[in-house]
Amino acid sequence: MSVANVAMDTPNFSKIFHQSSKDHAKGHPPTPRRYEDWPEEWRTTYYKAYPRLPKIALEDGPPRADFFDLIKARQSRRDFTRASITKYELSVLLKYSCGTTGKLTSDRFRRAQASGGGRYPIEVYPIVFRSGEDLKAGLYHYNVKEHALDVLWDREFSDEDISQIFTYPWVKDATVGIVMTAVFWRNQNKYGERGYRQILHEAGHIGQNTYLATEALGLKCCALSGTRDENLEKLIDIDGVTESVVYALAVGR
Ligand SMILES: Cc1cc2nc3c(=O)[nH]c(=O)nc-3n(C[C@H](O)[C@H](O)[C@H](O)COP(=O)(O)O)c2cc1C
Repeated sequence: MSVANVAMDTPNFSKIFHQSSKDHAKGHPPTPRRYEDWPEEWRTTYYKAYPRLPKIALEDGPPRADFFDLIKARQSRRDFTRASITKYELSVLLKYSCGTTGKLTSDRFRRAQASGGGRYPIEVYPIVFRSGEDLKAGLYHYNVKEHALDVLWDREFSDEDISQIFTYPWVKDATVGIVMTAVFWRNQNKYGERGYRQILHEAGHIGQNTYLATEALGLKCCALSGTRDENLEKLIDIDGVTESVVYALAVGR
């Protein structure tokens, strides 16, 4: 089959993913008219928590920046220098890409990104490759509610370790890999198959926020399709089915 024919054929991702999620009602339970009649899990915001692990409190206080200048300046940058980033920089990056921006109830918050049905399926795991002045290398989970890092693994990442989880060789010169996973059930239990779209859309919203926040901080950033998902999932200790890697970005200086 020629390249032209392959391109003309309906791609599998349309057949399998897109068509499956086209029917708005597929796997979508009927929505009761009154909010009070919605199932409890539709009215609940879920947060992944690591209560037994140490936490690092994060900071706030973003730099002033012109929004439109940031959009004009944004680009994917791959010429990282291995220089460290600070805890303040990672704090601002996380807060303004996927953190809380206001309180709705004791357990529900406004957030930096839009979320289909407010289901917030995305969990964020920053992987700091090398220790810097006030930010140690390690595998972290972003604790949205507390604006803190859950310390999953306090360790350095060698170039070889990085090549096991990200495919592009220049990622080893970045400083942090921001890995997004999806907890599929949070959307699927309300929206059925269509929930899959919402999950990927939301990851994109967080990704764009990350680009703009890094630009404001004078850092560099590049989105990464090039992730070795199974290895990342093993590292993060998720099963890859109920929770799986959906997107990642390399961030550095
Ligand atoms: C979903 C997505 C995945 C991407 N994955 C990669 C990647 O794995 N490697 C890479 O070098 N760039 C990746 N990019 C960056 C694109 O190559 C880049 O956005 C595009 O060339 C436009 O350039 P700009 O971002 O500088 O405007 C990705 C971008 C998106 C949106």
